[in-house]
Amino acid sequence: MSQPEPRDGSAETTNPWWVHVESDRGLLLRRVTTADAAGVLAVHGDPRVYAYDPQEVHPDLAHSRRFVVPMLDHWAEHGFGYWSVLVPREWSPDGPRGTGSGDADRAYAGLGGIQHHQVSGQPVLNVYFRLAPAVQGRGVAGRILNESVRMAAAVAPGQDVVVRTRPANTAARRVATRAGFVDEGLEPGTTDMQLLRLSR
Ligand SMILES: CC(C)(COP(=O)(O)OP(=O)(O)OC[C@H]1O[C@@H](n2cnc3c(N)ncnc32)[C@H](O)[C@@H]1OP(=O)(O)O)[C@@H](O)C(=O)NCCC(=O)NCCS
Repeated sequence: MSQPEPRDGSAETTNPWWVHVESDRGLLLRRVTTADAAGVLAVHGDPRVYAYDPQEVHPDLAHSRRFVVPMLDHWAEHGFGYWSVLVPREWSPDGPRGTGSGDADRAYAGLGGIQHHQVSGQPVLNVYFRLAPAVQGRGVAGRILNESVRMAAAVAPGQDVVVRTRPANTAARRVATRAGFVDEGLEPGTTDMQLLRLSR
């Protein structure tokens, strides 16, 4: 993308549609910001969201702040990236309140989206999703994946989209295959990363 945006998302009036994606069910996917670090900690500090990578659980706010920096940089450099996921309050009554100007009373519920990546030396768009346990099983990841594929077509036409996940992560694999991704087995060069691909 040609037009870098400020890290705080303040230029929303000039932004493309994928900076702020709202569904009729009240789900909001919007550009991640620095102010989301506390919400990220609330989700990523919960061992249940790292069942397959327990060493990755966030220990404190400083860790979550560092964690989002590459995501902010990706948006700034490429004009797209990971969203913060905001859900209607009733989906997550105890979830932290969103900090964005358009978040209203929504609860912060995780991260998802695509970033540039390489598989076997070839450029791909890599999907990410990690959601608070309270909102899992509502189709949110499916929605993230659909919007990610739509965004991919706009930002990198023709580039494959991949989901890479632990082989035991049945839910993540199911979300991908349900959306038409082909399970290619273990990612070349790895022993613990399943590769699912949507060829473009
Ligand atoms: C993986 C994750 C993103 C899925 O999000 P979600 O919003 O719950 O997903 P959806 O509701 O869109 O769909 C989940 C699908 O997986 C299925 N599923 C969930 N848990 C499952 C399990 N243990 N075994 C088999 N299928 C399972 C659901 O039935 C559903 O499929 P269906 O529509 O055919 O019924 C979410 O569980 C999560 O954040 N997990 C923790 C972090 C993580 O593992 N992220 C993935 C890293 S690549």
